[in-house]
Amino acid sequence: MSGNRTFTMIKPDAVEAGNTGNIIQMITDAGFSIKAMKLTNLSKEQAEEFYAVHAERPFYGELVSYMTSGAIVAAILEKDNAVADFRALIGATDPAEAEAGTIRKAYAESKGRNAVHGSDSDENAGIECDFHFEIAELV
Ligand code: RTP
Ligand code: MG
Repeated sequence: MSGNRTFTMIKPDAVEAGNTGNIIQMITDAGFSIKAMKLTNLSKEQAEEFYAVHAERPFYGELVSYMTSGAIVAAILEKDNAVADFRALIGATDPAEAEAGTIRKAYAESKGRNAVHGSDSDENAGIECDFHFEIAELV
């Protein structure tokens, strides 16, 4: 059974470019409700841990320095079929391949600097929500 929560980050390129409000609008227009949200920064250690699955990839160092280059907005989102529906809303990793109407098509600069993160499984959604938020912060 698919879960009803996912985790997202609005990444530093999108926050820096002033796209936070428009991206949140797209998320709520798509039927997600926001259970927790904060403007914050990732330390190098947090970014390395968050993307540890990519540690051996050639872009890992660039990814960690990008994700620590400025503020991010972290949020827990709720909707039926949240993980898959949110991945559909954000679009392909590379904005050149993202469909019209997706967040990355509208706001990502490049495959590396791609505006938003979305969890890729229910298991990782749970891990990522716990990584960024205490239970007490949930509405
Ligand atoms: P995310 O985890 O951030 O939601 O992105 P994703 O699932 O669509 O893509 P993933 O394969 O998990 O890659 C994580 C992030 O690493 C950066 N990346 N750069 N330069 C490159 O070839 C490259 N490939 C990936 C992107 O920021 C990507 O979102
Ligand atoms: Mg991913």
